[in-house]
Amino acid sequence: MNKSFSMVLVILVFSALLLSACGGSSTADTPNIPAEYAGKTNPLGSDAATAGKAIYDVQCASCHGESGQGDGPAGQALTPPAANLVESTAKYGDDYLYYRVAEGGTMDPYNSSMPPFKNVLSEDEIWQVVAHISTFK
Ligand code: HEC
Repeated sequence: MNKSFSMVLVILVFSALLLSACGGSSTADTPNIPAEYAGKTNPLGSDAATAGKAIYDVQCASCHGESGQGDGPAGQALTPPAANLVESTAKYGDDYLYYRVAEGGTMDPYNSSMPPFKNVLSEDEIWQVVAHISTFK
């Protein structure tokens, strides 16, 4: 085996390794969830969504829109604008959704006007809202 051929081999093997390392991490854009929230699951049944709608309409719809498309009158002019929750609930798990409703977006990396609700809503009420937004399609 001559020298340049083994060099090519080394490069090939190395890039294959690199590629598989990247391909393996399909969770690359999964946001960081603080330990106190990571893995949380909704303890309430699916009928929680009904109670969640009443809360959502008062607390969230002005920014996120009645059906969660990020088209509420107060949400569109914000920087960043209110999230499209149809996309968010398709992408993220309950633990992330609960975390973001509880803590809002005033911290890094979000730096947004999403208000924290942990002192406004009870844990059950946050889960009810999460159950409701999870019905958005
Ligand atoms: C004052 C406007 C405003 C209100 C009211 C508001 N939000 Fe938000 N929300 C935002 C903005 C702006 C973002 C996008 C920036 C960010 O992720 O922080 C956001 C982001 C989110 C996210 C994260 C989405 C993602 O894809 O990462 C969730 C979940 C969410 N909001 C749910 C709610 C729920 C549920 C309520 C009501 C309890 C609510 N929001 C009330 C403005 C608002």
